[in-house]
This record gives sequence, C-alpha cells and structure tokens, in this order.
Amino acid sequence: MTNDTTKTATPVAEPLTLPCGVTVKNRFYKSAMNEALAGRNCAPTEAHVRLYRTWANGGAGVLVTGNVMVDHTQLGEPGNVAVEDERDLAMLRRWAAAGTENGTHCWMQINHPGRQSPITINRHPLAPSAGTVDGDYGRFFAEPTELTRDQIRDIIRRFANTARIAKKAGFTGVEIHAAHGYLINQFLSPLDNRRTDEYGGSLENRARFLFDVFDAVREAVGPKFPIAVKLNSSDVPIAVKVNERNGAPGGFNEEESIWVMKQLEARGVDLIDISGGTYSKPVIQSNDGAAEDRRRGVYFTDFARRIKGELTVPVALTGGFRCAADMERALGEGITQMIGIARPLAIVPDMPNRILRDGWRSTVSLPRITTGIKSLDKAFGGILVISWFELQMNRIGRGRRPDSRIGGMRALLFALKQHGPAALAPRRRKGHQ
Ligand SMILES: Cc1cc2nc3c(=O)[nH]c(=O)nc-3n(C[C@H](O)[C@H](O)[C@H](O)COP(=O)(O)O)c2cc1C
Repeated sequence: MTNDTTKTATPVAEPLTLPCGVTVKNRFYKSAMNEALAGRNCAPTEAHVRLYRTWANGGAGVLVTGNVMVDHTQLGEPGNVAVEDERDLAMLRRWAAAGTENGTHCWMQINHPGRQSPITINRHPLAPSAGTVDGDYGRFFAEPTELTRDQIRDIIRRFANTARIAKKAGFTGVEIHAAHGYLINQFLSPLDNRRTDEYGGSLENRARFLFDVFDAVREAVGPKFPIAVKLNSSDVPIAVKVNERNGAPGGFNEEESIWVMKQLEARGVDLIDISGGTYSKPVIQSNDGAAEDRRRGVYFTDFARRIKGELTVPVALTGGFRCAADMERALGEGITQMIGIARPLAIVPDMPNRILRDGWRSTVSLPRITTGIKSLDKAFGGILVISWFELQMNRIGRGRRPDSRIGGMRALLFALKQHGPAALAPRRRKGHQ
C-alpha cells in the first residue's frame, strides 16, 4: 500500500484511469511471462495461485498473466495454460482471486501461437500461410498448414470464449497477444501472410484478423472491462541497420504499427503494450543480461517518442526498465503511461513495493546465463534465458524465494525436461502435416 507522501514523491505511484472507466492503482505493469507451470491438460495449478499472490502483494498495479492459449493442441511453449471451456473454472477462480489481492488488477493474456509452436510439442502448426520460421530458431518449428476461413472464424470465437471465461473467473481484464511473431503478428506481417483473401494483402486486410479478434473479445466482455493489446512497434526489436530501420525488410513496420494502434484506439482498446521482435529476431536478443541492458537501455524508447501525442489511449512500454529513475524519466517525458516490467519481477517480486514504500533507487542487474560451454550457450541462448526465468517463477510458485545463483546448466536441463530430448536436435520435417 502507498501513502500520500510516496504518492507525490514518484509518478510511478499515480493511479491511472483507462478508457473503459476502470482505475488502476499505480503505473507498474507486470508484463506477461509464460510461467511454465500448467498441470495436466494445460490446467492452471496451485503454483499459479502462489506466484500471483506473491506478485499481487509485491505492489504492482496490473499483473498480466503468461500467455494463455485458446487451443490446447496449439501451444506456444510447454507448460502453457490453455482455456477452451469451463472445466478449470474453480482453479481459474483461485488464480484470479490471488492475483487481485491488495487492490491489484490481474489480466489474462490470450494467445494463439500460429506457426511458432515448437516441433517438440506440435507437429501440426497452423498459420496464415504455409512457410517455415527463418533464423537461428527455425529448426524448432514444423512447417505449418494454411488456415482455412472456417478455422480463422473458429480461432476468433476461441479468443472471445477464453476472454469470457477469464472474466467469469474473476480476472479483471485481458490482453490480446498480437506481438512477438505469434498468430496475430503473423497475420499482420506481409512476410508471413501471403493470403489472397480478405485476411491478406493490404494492411487493412492483414489487420482484419486482429480487429475481428478485438471486436469479438469486446463483445464477450462488455464495454467496462479492460482490453489491452500487446503489439510490435515493428518486427525487429531495434534498428539494426539503416536499411532495416523500420523492421524486418518487408515485415510489419513502424508506420503500419502506428496505423493499427490508431484503429484499435477508435475501436475502444484500453491500453497498448508496446513490444517488438519475433522468434527469428527475439525481443530478448542475448543471454548477456545486464550487459544487454546497458547496451539497449529502455527498449522501444525511440518508437514511444515517435508516437507521443499521436494516441490518446494509454501505452505500456515494456522492456529494459530496471530502476526507478528510468521509470520516472519515461513517465515524466510522457512517452508511456504504464511501466512494463517482466524479468526483474521474477527475481525481485516486490520491486514495486520497494520503490513505492521504501524509496528504493537500486538497479536490478539481470544475470548473464551461461552453461559454461560456449557452443551450448550459442545454440540455446534465448531458451536458456527463458528457462532460467521460468525456474525462478517455479520456485516462487512452490513458496520459495528466487535464487539468482541458479546456473545456466540447470536452465538447460529444465528446457530439456520441458521439451524432451528432441529439443537437442529438432529437425524441420517437411510434408508431414
Ligand atoms: C520467461 C519469459 C516468458 C515470457 N513470456 C511471455 C508471454 O507469455 N507473453 C508475452 O507477451 N511476452 C512474454 N515474455 C516477454 C516479456 O513480456 C517482455 O516483453 C520481455 O521480457 C522484455 O521485458 P523485460 O526487459 O522487462 O524482461 C516473456 C519473457 C520471459 C523472460
């Protein structure tokens, strides 16, 4: 809880009222992290309840859950929760109740992975168009089948149904995952989407799937329920070369992203969570931890500056926030209204309280995750990072404290446990769908 003195001391403590009329108590927006804690049949577990209770009592205004899938046969990562019907309503209720303790908002992030569904758990992914994932991680995915129009309609219905169940269970908002190269992002990207029907071609057509999903979710939850959308500023997290300044060449770019945001604003979105990247060019670019943070600072700042004044809908900038000073600067500059934080909250779950109550001015220093073997680090860099943070959430979910001493080898073993030994040498299989 904050008191009046701290409220005036830092803009991070200020409440924020969303377009739907709901007020969140402060500017800390715990960004989505797949918890890898689902039980059998992708059900939520007691560990989710403990983890979200810990975070809720850690002081954030909004907790966004890890991505919850709309179809248990199409997972983005092992250990995802999937919500297709009400069979897990009792446990979802307990999860939502824990996540909304202490006046906290708990929003369910809803997702479909499209072709970014690992081959170790899915040999039959679906996508806007056939075609494999490029880049170092391409080997982790099977070639997808092109979605039919009926399947597209089914997925739209699923997003709405999952949102309806989230609301019924007591979650206080939802976030539609339209970023990071997953299905909605695949529809938006002209590289991934080569359809010739009303869902492909022009930007208006490529964005149609997102807008249909948004409208169906709004219809399912009503006008007074927060809906956020996580959207890429472009499909490349930072400008890597002059000729790629606007995203992956031919990919979803900044002008397109701004147009989509304006359309979402007109449709009644409550918050836009700005991110970037795909599996080919991930948002987390290395396993260097603090060294990467020093190199990049707060992610997507240039883009946030660019859109300042163009939108009235609140923005959450996610990535790279490690200390109160950076948060206050971003809020003061008006380039964001919420502070999106993911990894630091897996190692310092009460970071918001520390800042709000104790005036904490420290910087959370993310570790470099290494197995000690260069070739393994190179082959599994991104997976090591994800698994290391999943291990921390796993500890909190078991009632233990995070442990920064966990090594990269344990993270690799955890990834192997999750994916099975096939993760060591997955091969793209052609023509098996
Ligand atoms: C373990 C892990 C799981 C993640 N899972 C998700 C997810 O389910 N949905 C999502 O939108 N982003 C996910 N992300 C990305 C984060 O939300 C965030 O965009 C990224 O970590 C950058 O923010 P940070 O620098 O504060 O960590 C995940 C990141 C990590 C480390």
